[in-house]
Amino acid sequence: MPAEIIDGKMISSEIKESLKEKLEDLKRKEIVPGLAAILVGDNPASQVYVNMKVKACDKVGIRSEVDRYPKELPESDLLNRIEELNGKESIHGILVQFPTPAQISEEKVILAVDPKKDVDGFHPFNVGMMLAGKPTFLPCTPLGIQELLMRSGNDPSGKHVVILGRGSLVGRPLASMLFQKSKGANATVTICHTATRNLTNLTLQADILIAAMGKAKFVTAAMVKPGVVVIDVGTNRIEDPSTKSGYRLVGDVDFDSVKEVAKAITPVPGGVGPMTIAMLLSNTVKACKIQSEA
Ligand SMILES: NC(=O)c1ccc[n+]([C@@H]2O[C@H](COP(=O)([O-])OP(=O)(O)OC[C@H]3O[C@@H](n4cnc5c(N)ncnc54)[C@H](OP(=O)(O)O)[C@@H]3O)[C@@H](O)[C@H]2O)c1
Repeated sequence: MPAEIIDGKMISSEIKESLKEKLEDLKRKEIVPGLAAILVGDNPASQVYVNMKVKACDKVGIRSEVDRYPKELPESDLLNRIEELNGKESIHGILVQFPTPAQISEEKVILAVDPKKDVDGFHPFNVGMMLAGKPTFLPCTPLGIQELLMRSGNDPSGKHVVILGRGSLVGRPLASMLFQKSKGANATVTICHTATRNLTNLTLQADILIAAMGKAKFVTAAMVKPGVVVIDVGTNRIEDPSTKSGYRLVGDVDFDSVKEVAKAITPVPGGVGPMTIAMLLSNTVKACKIQSEA
């Protein structure tokens, strides 16, 4: 029987609806959460991401502002601007869209954001708290994946989760979240990377397989066991002359073959992507509530 499709669009809409209620509560206390986004340069994908985030804020009632800078912006100017936003009361969350141009150190940018406004969950303070099992802001994509699993009835507790990829945005933080002794976690986690031997032996043992490599259609039906739950994080552009743009997005999983073996699977697009944005909104509301003690 073909797999159940885990609909990230629908689940993220449910989350956004429940956020609207929290926002109404805050509004009654005359509090409106504010998110500042900073975009340096003209990377087309970054522009799309920032626009999507701002639009999502508008839809639920989070106030957002975007600083757009030319790609030559000196690093010191960006750090000064972050410092200003750290001190601005109406701004509760700050996000700097990565990648930044070469003259700007992403590490310095991450360190510059006040951990209380770090709605991306990248600051070492928040990463440390996550590892310690006392999280404040968890990174949006891993948090979105955890929510997807729980809300689709696939609690990772007691399961063997195999993660393909140890990147700092997805694989690494996700692994540290899923092995915690806490709700939505409590899994046995295996992390695979380019030095992993006999990868298929490991993927075949997964109850939940999460692919976050950036390798189009890497995971095939022969690599998964029947009944597996598959979360596809990969976002890869492949050429497709039949589309208007000449390309289309595919995941790290060969969806058509794997869906015949899996119990449940996320599509690309429409799986993890919308959840990442929903979690950014959720983190912004959380930051506002903490800062305004509401
Ligand atoms: N949907 C979303 O919201 C969202 C958000 C973030 C990222 N993404 C997508 O998720 C994917 C991963 O992103 P990322 O930032 O985590 O990437 P990354 O930092 O480049 O990490 C990729 C990881 O995959 C591993 N890898 C690559 N090829 C492999 C192979 N053949 N076998 C085993 N492991 C392999 C790498 O291993 P080494 O460490 O050994 O190099 C690395 O750990 C990308 O497609 C990205 O676009 C989607």
